[in-house]
Amino acid sequence: MKHELLEKNATLLLIFSFLVVTIGGLVQIAPLFYLQNTIEKVEGMRPYTPLELAGRNVYVREGCYTCHSQMIRPFRDEVERYGHYSLAAESQYDHPFQWGSKRTGPDLARVGNRYSDDWHREHLANPRNVVPESVMPGYAYLYDNDVKLEGFGRHLKVNAMVGVPYSNEMIENAEADMKAQATGENTDGFMERYPKAQARDFDGNPARVTEMDAMVAYLQMLGTLVDFSTFKTELEPR
Ligand code: HEC
Repeated sequence: MKHELLEKNATLLLIFSFLVVTIGGLVQIAPLFYLQNTIEKVEGMRPYTPLELAGRNVYVREGCYTCHSQMIRPFRDEVERYGHYSLAAESQYDHPFQWGSKRTGPDLARVGNRYSDDWHREHLANPRNVVPESVMPGYAYLYDNDVKLEGFGRHLKVNAMVGVPYSNEMIENAEADMKAQATGENTDGFMERYPKAQARDFDGNPARVTEMDAMVAYLQMLGTLVDFSTFKTELEPR
């Protein structure tokens, strides 16, 4: 048997193993260099509004991902509980992504529009007010912290540097857009820049733009951008 020759000669075996791994690696990796994009384009995806981005920054700062994932896996139990499994495109503008790896609390990828703003405020301030057995910590101080509007365009600019399609117009109008979304007033330009965004007073205090505004705006948007009543993947019958 010729194979015996390989199996009994360590050097030959190493050389041939190396060859096999090299060819296998090339076949897998080389085509990726010729693809423009490995993420399927999906209608409805847009960059975060300045207010949502501010909320997301708070989410990252507070480490919400240590207890919450934002990634619904394509398994029946997950899809029945949380909704359509997550698409790559849904986190394409996330820097860094918040998929998480632990679920002390539920997945949040599609929590948007599932509860009222009131519920979220009450829950964030003290989760046990609405879910008596909750072990989630309270974040009442989000009411006290104003979002720093001045110069917020820089956050958009940095995201643009890593590939998020923020236009100069979006960057220049960041402060005004943040105010418009958190008050629900003067929203014409804002709605044009961020189609289907939700604009209202999220924290119940129209006089200030607080981190509570930002967090609730962010949570209410999660998972709502893609319309799954019309969306079909390659895998599903059209
Ligand atoms: C120590 C773990 C822990 C941390 C940290 C945590 N949560 Fe939770 N969260 C939970 C648990 C447990 C639940 C389920 C019980 C409840 O609703 O309070 C929950 C529920 C939720 C829900 C309701 C989800 C649903 O579908 O019912 C939201 C929204 C939420 N958390 C947001 C946040 C945000 C935003 C942060 C960060 C500011 C955060 N959580 C931090 C544990 C945590």
